[in-house]
Amino acid sequence: MSARRKLVVGNWKMHGSHPANAELLSGIMAARPFAADVAVCVPFPYLPATALSLIDSDIRWGAQDCSAHKQGAYTGEVSSTMLAELGCRFAIVGHSERRAMHGESDQLVADKALAALGQGVTPIVCVGETLAQREAGETAGVVKRQLSAVIHTLAHCVSEMVVAYEPVWAIGTGLSATPEQAQEVHQLLRAQLQAATPRAEQMKLLYGGSVKPDNAAALFAKPDIDGALVGGAALKAVDFVAICRAAG
Ligand code: 13P
Repeated sequence: MSARRKLVVGNWKMHGSHPANAELLSGIMAARPFAADVAVCVPFPYLPATALSLIDSDIRWGAQDCSAHKQGAYTGEVSSTMLAELGCRFAIVGHSERRAMHGESDQLVADKALAALGQGVTPIVCVGETLAQREAGETAGVVKRQLSAVIHTLAHCVSEMVVAYEPVWAIGTGLSATPEQAQEVHQLLRAQLQAATPRAEQMKLLYGGSVKPDNAAALFAKPDIDGALVGGAALKAVDFVAICRAAG
């Protein structure tokens, strides 16, 4: 196992309500302390209440997207300055659901990552191939292309981001990548980062896609898997806590 401290991030996606969130957060808080770093990325409207709940803890919070623009006539967008004001430590950018459903390009994702970093919000940049791309043997090429846009745009700040490898075919399907499949891609990503920054060894590469309490430990045992970006299992305190403990 590597010396990097693990990071487990819950991506709540478009789920939640004030009462459900309060219950989930208190379940997570009650299970502290964790040996790993832990964060939740919640829908924008829940950020203030989440911040209030977590402010005195070491659990961090973040958003699931961030505008590439600083401010202006961008109806519906939320800027990194606003996220920073709400104490966000993280912003997920380039999730495959946004790439697919909102037509986000590699360059837009890179610009969002840069905007987040500019306000001290750590971007969690998601990359990953579809099933068709994997079956066509294109996995390495796809993730390399996605990561390379971010590497070029962030330039000397590249080591400040977190990268999440999320194979699209594993998201919400219950069909996680095997630890070996995930490690193979993480190793490629680490090598690509190594060519870009002397700090690649310290960078966190998360795996996401059907991470559950029963598969988390085997994934975390791989040398280049530094934690997880968790969807469905992040909505149940017992499951999320079990995954956080597996990372410890
Ligand atoms: P699931 O854990 O529900 O597969 O979602 C993964 C994901 O998309 C996290 O960002």
